[in-house]
Amino acid sequence: MAYKVIIPAAGQGKRMGAGKNKLLLELNNVPILIHTLFVFENDETCDGVILAISSEDEKSFKTLLQTYQIKKVQALVPGGKERQHSVYNGLKEIGSEGIVLVHDGARPFVDKKQIHQLVEVSSKEGAAVLAVPVKDTIKRVNHSEVVETVERSSLWAIQTPQAFRVSLLVKAHKKADEDNYLGTDDASLVERINEPVKIVEGNYDNIKITTPEDLYFAEAIIRKRQS
Ligand code: CTP
Ligand code: MG
Repeated sequence: MAYKVIIPAAGQGKRMGAGKNKLLLELNNVPILIHTLFVFENDETCDGVILAISSEDEKSFKTLLQTYQIKKVQALVPGGKERQHSVYNGLKEIGSEGIVLVHDGARPFVDKKQIHQLVEVSSKEGAAVLAVPVKDTIKRVNHSEVVETVERSSLWAIQTPQAFRVSLLVKAHKKADEDNYLGTDDASLVERINEPVKIVEGNYDNIKITTPEDLYFAEAIIRKRQS
């Protein structure tokens, strides 16, 4: 089943501390952003990519799209102050029907099979996100003192892609915009309008490259996949 994907790529990579957008950093001599775009470029069921970018990156990103012959990017939209605003700008290019995925530019290791599962589930249920069971013990803490240990069996770490019926995600984003509500992911905007969000069990490889040590993990994942 066909889908489009919005890729927010307009961050500043502050936690990476590279002095530029972390998506320009290279893994195996290829920029992180291009690794991510290749996944969708090589998925025959993806019929369009909308990329949210900041004005500082416009020139270098356009050059990369040409150099790596990326064909599926149908629109470049301006990034917003927060990730949520970048996604919202992308949604304006999507139309009103079908399935839309939102996927972080900083997650280059997403698996094609899991994308297809998300598309299937979201077309039936409205919304679906990739997630993995939490491995650590999680405690709630207040002023350096433990308040409680949260029951781990019900905790999942949520990743992207997140997949939605377009009409549902548009409604959720519009409502959040009206209420000046800022969520940490797109699914949370759907949750707050009381619509169900399903989980598709993902893979621990699908890391978000955030801090410098994530680059070592990423290199290891690439080596594993090559062997
Ligand atoms: N992003 C975006 N627009 C923003 C902020 C983030 O499009 N205003 C994108 C990033 O480019 C990234 C994804 O959202 O692909 C996830 O964000 P994150 O990992 O937080 O990246 P950055 O915001 O770049 O990093 P940091 O928070 O450390 O500055
Ligand atoms: Mg950020």
